[in-house]
Amino acid sequence: MSKENLYLCMGSACHQLGVYEVLPKLQSLIKEHDLEDKIELKGSFCLETCSVGIVMKFQDNVFTKISADNIEEKFTDEILPNIQEVVK
Ligand code: FES
Repeated sequence: MSKENLYLCMGSACHQLGVYEVLPKLQSLIKEHDLEDKIELKGSFCLETCSVGIVMKFQDNVFTKISADNIEEKFTDEILPNIQEVVK
């Protein structure tokens, strides 16, 4: 099975908001949920929503207002359900 890409914006605005604190947390969340074989975490260029906090993208869904403090919650409540729908 090929992996689905999960994008984390690494553009300069998101970088300044602390994307490098979000990244390790995201990596452990992916591990925790056994998604390492299914999801490829990728950095992306600016996703053009700089004004709404750190941004992630999975397929056509964009998740905004991400921070190092809320990434666990965002991942479980918003991102994970989307992923599970696709990778089952
Ligand atoms: S830098 Fe992340 S959306 Fe623009």
